[in-house]
Amino acid sequence: MIFSSYPKKYYLKHKKNILNNIKKTLDSGNYINSENVKKFEDEFANYLGVKYVIGVGNATDALYIILKSMGVGINHEVILPSHTAIATAISVSNTGAKPIFIDIGDDYNIDSNLISSKINKKTKAIICVHIYGQPCDLNRLKEISKMHKIPLIEDCSQSTGSEYNNKKTGSFGLASCHSFFPTKNLATFGDGGAISTNSKSLFSKMIKYREYGWGKNRNAEVVGINSRLDEIHASILRYNLKNIDINIKHRIKIADYYHQNIKNNKILLPKKIMNRKHSYHLFVIKLKNRNKLLEVLKKEGFFLGIHYKLPAHKQKIYIKNNLILKNTENISNNSISLPIYPGIELNNLKKIVKILNNF
Ligand SMILES: Cc1ncc(COP(=O)(O)O)c(C=O)c1O
Repeated sequence: MIFSSYPKKYYLKHKKNILNNIKKTLDSGNYINSENVKKFEDEFANYLGVKYVIGVGNATDALYIILKSMGVGINHEVILPSHTAIATAISVSNTGAKPIFIDIGDDYNIDSNLISSKINKKTKAIICVHIYGQPCDLNRLKEISKMHKIPLIEDCSQSTGSEYNNKKTGSFGLASCHSFFPTKNLATFGDGGAISTNSKSLFSKMIKYREYGWGKNRNAEVVGINSRLDEIHASILRYNLKNIDINIKHRIKIADYYHQNIKNNKILLPKKIMNRKHSYHLFVIKLKNRNKLLEVLKKEGFFLGIHYKLPAHKQKIYIKNNLILKNTENISNNSISLPIYPGIELNNLKKIVKILNNF
């Protein structure tokens, strides 16, 4: 399994610094909500260009905390793309609200033209997901959000470091969630996540939801959850944040290599769009006969992923809605994710391109 080894490769390259940060944290005797978490929150807020960041356990919790703090719950609806990790939809369902799935456009992100017709009195939020690291059309989404007075929430789990009009994703919506799962653009060696926002009032509610609902003097004011970012992970993330821009540069370089060298008109490459900086968490190609190509690649030792084989609206918990989303189903059935992690060997890239061009 050549391509699942990236987090370990990164760890081995940066072992000395990472172990040093872990050791310092253990030696400090402070393991929960202490110096590293606070400093990471400030440093990540500065990186994103937002006022507030809250470290949490993972992005699924981050999205749940955002929605609960906005008052989203039973009898409400939340609009989102079906073409996403199931986690996005699960966070909505866990609040008691109903996810309203929308199809995607040719950037594989939520099709903004389909949103307005789904808005009604129950609609409480629109979630956009910057899928694969490709930013959504945020100006258009903000216009729609403003017109209907429905807050926009960004799922940046795959887009840390992506930019729209030179501003980081995660700084446009009312609030945004981020994932630090080991394979993400900004990652730790375990679970981790964050919320970013510019809203002071939402920030003070979300801080409570993160930790049991505690307000002043540890007096529970709302029914919160326990979803803290651990000090050890925060210390690793503080180091990894220093390397994120160089890592994204590597991802973009590999994407450029694919764009320049894959020459097969049966294979559709990801769109390059003006004023949107794609961070290439994933490089997804689209083609017919996907399974045949997967077989050929497997024979050569390349075990590649698919994001996502089963769209959210087709999964057991949601399928009863009998919804058909043509573009979403089309990409699910016809896409392959090519390896794009920083440090991938040139000879492997050459081999993959050759297989694709001969296909
Ligand atoms: C788009 C998207 N949203 C949410 C999540 C959930 O992230 P986490 O595993 O940190 O809860 C993921 C993780 O894969 C994701 O890709």
